[in-house]
Amino acid sequence: MPAAPDWRRARIAATQDLTPDIRLLAVEPEGAFVAPTPGSHIQVGVQVEERADTRSYSVVDAGRDGLYRIAVKRLPTSRGGSRYMWSLAAGARLTVSAPANHFELALGRSHYTLVAGGIGITPIRSMALALAEAGADLRLIYAARTRADLAFADELSTLLGERLQLVVSEEGERIDLDATVATMPACGELYLCGPIGLIEAGKRVWAKAGRPAASLRFETFGSSGRYATLPFTVRIPRLGLEIPVPENRTMLDAMEDAGVAMIHDCRRGECGLCAVHILDAAGPVDHRDVFFSDEEKAANAKLCTCVSRLPGGVLTIDTADRAA
Ligand code: FES
Repeated sequence: MPAAPDWRRARIAATQDLTPDIRLLAVEPEGAFVAPTPGSHIQVGVQVEERADTRSYSVVDAGRDGLYRIAVKRLPTSRGGSRYMWSLAAGARLTVSAPANHFELALGRSHYTLVAGGIGITPIRSMALALAEAGADLRLIYAARTRADLAFADELSTLLGERLQLVVSEEGERIDLDATVATMPACGELYLCGPIGLIEAGKRVWAKAGRPAASLRFETFGSSGRYATLPFTVRIPRLGLEIPVPENRTMLDAMEDAGVAMIHDCRRGECGLCAVHILDAAGPVDHRDVFFSDEEKAANAKLCTCVSRLPGGVLTIDTADRAA
């Protein structure tokens, strides 16, 4: 089990709506300030239907004024976290962790291409600011559904000029990952953050181009899948359990609530620690992680319980590698 986060009390110093659905929250923690590095996230204690839970949000800048700035997208399919965060006004009290970084920016490389899809701009923005300040050779491609959904676009445009490419899908534009990778210098690094489809496509294009795996870094958010987020049931015959998973809970949450001993770390589909064996699936498994390869996902032998799920029906699993 990973070390417990270093929690501290905090207050909302200010809020600002960046787009109709993205709100910037400036969080002032109590005690010694731990500065975030580009790509860092903080965990935030949230209340979801009377239940205490946590959510992870990328920090969008270096916090030189002692504030953690996070941008929260209001999601129609929210499990309750974004709704709670949007309910917080300036002065509201909350608890946050110190920053941690699973999406680190390696400084000193000869070229960087940054690609952000939707709310994936949050860690990418902090990277773009740091790289621009360091005078690095960089390019940023930022895609959103509509022009109004592009948070930070004006500021990034001023900072980066022609090094910024905005892609608006409602205007018929798409990120051309093949062309993007093909035009990168041989020793360039690619950083991707966005929905699972963008990350998987990026991984495929990168591998097809014969680029070194270590020069591709990515992070996703576990809320995006190929199927609708619906309730389903998990059966664990070895433990004699049948566990309902509501649409606003992850499979991992529901299993822990039912007393199943699980191990986990990222809760974002990245580390693979929460994976369990699939015995039978009455329907397609919506693999929402970036831990398993395309081949492993197609084999449907395991799934990451923190993000992946079934669009309804019954999933039969075994937790034989776990303590219970
Ligand atoms: S906890 Fe890391 S992949 Fe699920």
